[in-house]
Order: sequence, then structure tokens, then C-alpha cells
Amino acid sequence: MQVTEEDGQMFAPAAGRNRDAIEAVLAEYLPKEGNVLEIASGTGQHISHFAQKFTNLNWQPSDIDTKRRASVDAWRDYLKLENISAARHVDIAAKGWVDELDRVDFIMMVNLLHLISQTDMVNFMCGAADLLHKDGRIFIYGPFMREGVLTSDGDEKFHADLQAQNSLIGYKNIEDVIDNLLGFGLEVKACVEMPANNIALVAQLVN
Ligand SMILES: C[S@@+](CC[C@H](N)C(=O)[O-])C[C@H]1O[C@@H](n2cnc3c(N)ncnc32)[C@H](O)[C@@H]1O
Repeated sequence: MQVTEEDGQMFAPAAGRNRDAIEAVLAEYLPKEGNVLEIASGTGQHISHFAQKFTNLNWQPSDIDTKRRASVDAWRDYLKLENISAARHVDIAAKGWVDELDRVDFIMMVNLLHLISQTDMVNFMCGAADLLHKDGRIFIYGPFMREGVLTSDGDEKFHADLQAQNSLIGYKNIEDVIDNLLGFGLEVKACVEMPANNIALVAQLVN
């Protein structure tokens, strides 16, 4: 993630670019009111924007990284947002990552799935299904393979770079992600093609 920093508020150009397209999908699938947990909030640009747009919701940011959590809190303080809690430490690769968290109506995760292993993805989904109220939804955004195929030169290069760093990480196949979600009772409501060859997936807890 390319990031610049001013007064503790980090800024990632990509988060500025994809924000409005993500907002359009969220507008259709967020609940009218309730609690939203964001996994991997990063700089905090996304959640601080969505909290201003969807003011009836309470927003809980989180990240594994201390500096990024400080950035999220800096954005919250700078914008004087009252519907965002302080960012929490959440590592979706940890066993029992949901144990200390309150149940929520909506979980969102942007641009993390390709950076974690299959095992960590399953650990994330298992926890997310436990954490959601019945009929709660999960939103996952990022780059994916379609039917096992990397669909652009840029995706091929990014996936290869990730695998060179760690052979366990890299792009997931969208069909496998959907199957895994279903295995945890999360039924896909929408699979939306997004700008720059990304996909936004929305699934709902049905049992
Ligand atoms: C590519 S950035 C995406 C940040 C933000 N969602 C966005 O789209 O701008 C990935 C983020 O995932 C966080 N992260 C990495 N591993 C994680 C884990 N196991 N659990 C939770 N967050 C993690 C990183 O600290 C980083 O903030």
C-alpha cells in the first residue's frame, strides 16, 4: 500500500480512488441502522468517509498495525466524527479473533484477502459468521481470479509479486471464496464487477 503521512493521518492514493465506487455498493447493502465492523481499516480514509455518509450506523474500525490504528483515530479526531469508535487491534489470522468483539450487523473488508493465506481466509470467515447477527452481511472487496484465471497483465504481475514474497498468499479464486462463504452459512447476495478489475462481494448470514 503506497501511503503518505501528515500529522498522523496517513493517506493511501488507492483508498481515495476506489472510495466512491465502494460507497455506491455499500449504499445498497448496508443496514439502515446498527453496527459495522471494518477489518483492516488501513489509513482510516474509507471508514471516516463512510461514517460521514451513513450517519445512522456506528462504525468500528480495526487493524493489526499500531501505526495504522493511530491514523484511523487521527482522521476521526480531525473530522470530529462521533459515530466512529477508537480503532481496535484485530488480527483475523489469530484463533478466536472475534472473542473480545461485540456482535455486529455488517462486516467489511477491503483489499486484504489477496494478502493472506487460504487458512487465514477461512479463519476470517469462520469468525465473521460467529460475529454477525442473523441476516447480517459481509462485504469483501479486492482483486480476484475468475475461474482460476488472472484476467489482466497487471493482475498477473501483482499476484506473482505476492507469491514471490510468500507462496501462501496471493489472489483467491472468486468461485472458491463464494463456496467457502456458503460453508459458513453466508449466501452471496451480490458479486459486482468494480473499476480496475476488482470485485465487490456481499453475502448474508442465512442460518
Ligand atoms: C492493502 S491495506 C488495505 C487497507 C484499507 N482497507 C484500504 O483499502 O485502504 C491492508 C491492511 O491490512 C492490514 N492487515 C494485514 N494483515 C492483517 C490481519 N491479519 N488482520 C487484520 N488486518 C491486517 C494491514 O495492516 C493494512 O492496513
